[in-house]
Amino acid sequence: MIKSDYDITSLTTLGVPVKAKYFAEYSSVKELEAIMRTPKYQQNEVLHIGGGSNLLFIHDFDGLILHSKVKGLTEYRKNESTVYVIAGAGEAWQDLIDFCVERNLAGLENLTGIPGEVGASVIQNVGAYGVEAGDVIFKAECYDRLTHKIVNFTNEECRFAYRDSFFKHEGKGRYYVLRVCFRLTPSATGENLDYGPLKSLAERLGHTPSLKEVVAEINEIRNSKLPDPKVLGSAGSFFKNPIVRRRYYEAEILKHGYDVPSYDLPDEKVKIPAGWLIEHAGLKGCSIGGAAVYKKQCLIIVNRNNATGISVSALCRHIQLTVHRKFGVWLQPEVNFIDTSVHVEILGSGTSKGVPEPACQCDVCTSPDKHDKRLRASALIKTHGLTLLLDASPDFREQAIRAGVYDIDATLITHQHYDHVGGIDDLRPYCLNKRMPLYALKHVADDLRRRLDYCFREHKYPGVPGFEIHEVGNEPFYFSGVKIVPINVMHAQLPIIGYRIGNFAYITDAKTIPEEEFEKLEGVKVLVINALRYTPHFSHLTVEEALAVIEKIKPEQAYLTHICHDMGKHQDVSGKLPSNVKLAYDGLKFTVD
Ligand code: EPU
Repeated sequence: MIKSDYDITSLTTLGVPVKAKYFAEYSSVKELEAIMRTPKYQQNEVLHIGGGSNLLFIHDFDGLILHSKVKGLTEYRKNESTVYVIAGAGEAWQDLIDFCVERNLAGLENLTGIPGEVGASVIQNVGAYGVEAGDVIFKAECYDRLTHKIVNFTNEECRFAYRDSFFKHEGKGRYYVLRVCFRLTPSATGENLDYGPLKSLAERLGHTPSLKEVVAEINEIRNSKLPDPKVLGSAGSFFKNPIVRRRYYEAEILKHGYDVPSYDLPDEKVKIPAGWLIEHAGLKGCSIGGAAVYKKQCLIIVNRNNATGISVSALCRHIQLTVHRKFGVWLQPEVNFIDTSVHVEILGSGTSKGVPEPACQCDVCTSPDKHDKRLRASALIKTHGLTLLLDASPDFREQAIRAGVYDIDATLITHQHYDHVGGIDDLRPYCLNKRMPLYALKHVADDLRRRLDYCFREHKYPGVPGFEIHEVGNEPFYFSGVKIVPINVMHAQLPIIGYRIGNFAYITDAKTIPEEEFEKLEGVKVLVINALRYTPHFSHLTVEEALAVIEKIKPEQAYLTHICHDMGKHQDVSGKLPSNVKLAYDGLKFTVD
């Protein structure tokens, strides 16, 4: 039975108010397939939830929420040393732990007390007290939303990493976990006793702790530090503990003069406790609009008093900024932000020379109006908790400082002309701890590898930015589960791309748009498109040509960008445009639902 306009607040442990357009539960693959084959639901954004213990809804969900009720806990004894336990995705995580402990099956005992359900443990690779679910997951049986087939993923294919898996990347939104097979060891005593407080347990007890004793000890520690979500809403750890290279930790973090703790990891990396950073940034108990930093464990944000998704997200940003200012570390949320809106900021709206043009004294270039100061074209997109940069203009450094850009998850390049890629080297601060994913057409990627060869050498000069180039074709692709549609357009004779994300599309430097590409733009609510000036140009749309494209796409709102000084003053031109068309300007912000 599918419910409409359904209140799902109580299905999340944070308890911020949220409704879903549709909500459906299923107990079998057959029921799931029936839902997924119904055209009415196929067209919707779909989000599969588990125990809701790791979700932050920023606003109501305009799509279908699925929840598994697939049950079952079964034990298969393979031999003396290996037992498999198969658990339905809809089983409560704690029921699985209790099932294993009762039967003296070791491996999962350290993960007692974690809220949520079995299915989500695969996605999130839940972890605590030195153990991660991925350590004992043998395989995951999933439903493929695209083919409607059942697919088994081995442990290796799940690509587990710290709070991470394949299902948070390429697999996001496509595979729904049906059952999980855990590989456990028959043993009455605890297996992983090295983590901090567990180390002294054997000494205190005078014997190797039994599974039940490990569970009791961890439950006690958890109860003393973590809020019970039934009493006080929270999503467990709100941020991930940053993992950085030891060299970076020593050179960039310790230089701030604080004794920031770290735990050694393999490969010359260290893990930094985010809770410590938050506490020592003076944020213990800090609150915004009913959301607060939990005093007993600062890594947790609690819903103290009718917090909303917006207030939790405002507190998250405040914590990120404050910790960054003090320790130079940008915290990444562990919680999944469910924000299907696309928040756009125009970083630059100018053509290749920008406005004012150097050495020009025309009315526009000497205008005092800030709308007539146009840096080279670029935009910043925030959606689903991710930050995406559209083109790295030569003005990127200035744009990033003005807009307060502290983190970029990926950069999408439209084409290789200097005014769109000249700022790539300035992405350095965002590549300190990762290789920045960079999306571009193949010929653009080849060109960038040639021009920026120093970023791709095996032995790089220390400090140069690192990139992971992804070649874009004609097909939509996914970045961290966000669907991105490339729009192929022509910049005179040069094939280049624009991008559609949700109901927002960004096209710059087009002169012509092939007929078949218009299909990809159907239903776009806000379109940013280039219009150089009123007079003709061989490789750029004029205002008149851009208006004809807008007329065809029919967005609710269009903004013209990549503007040159010949366009005229912002104020004069604004009065002449149709009501649904405006000139973009640097710093313009809008949200597309
Ligand atoms: N710390 C502080 N102040 C705080 C919180 C922590 O100084 O407010 C310090 C602690 O003193 C300790 C260090 O930070 O030295 C680490 O703290 P803790 O052992 O409590 O663990 P954590 O790193 O904060 C992680 C998991 C928890 C898990 C615990 C125990 C993440 C993001 N969180 O927290 O997982 O229970 O270890 O293994 O890795 C969850 O995912 O929801 C969760 C609760």
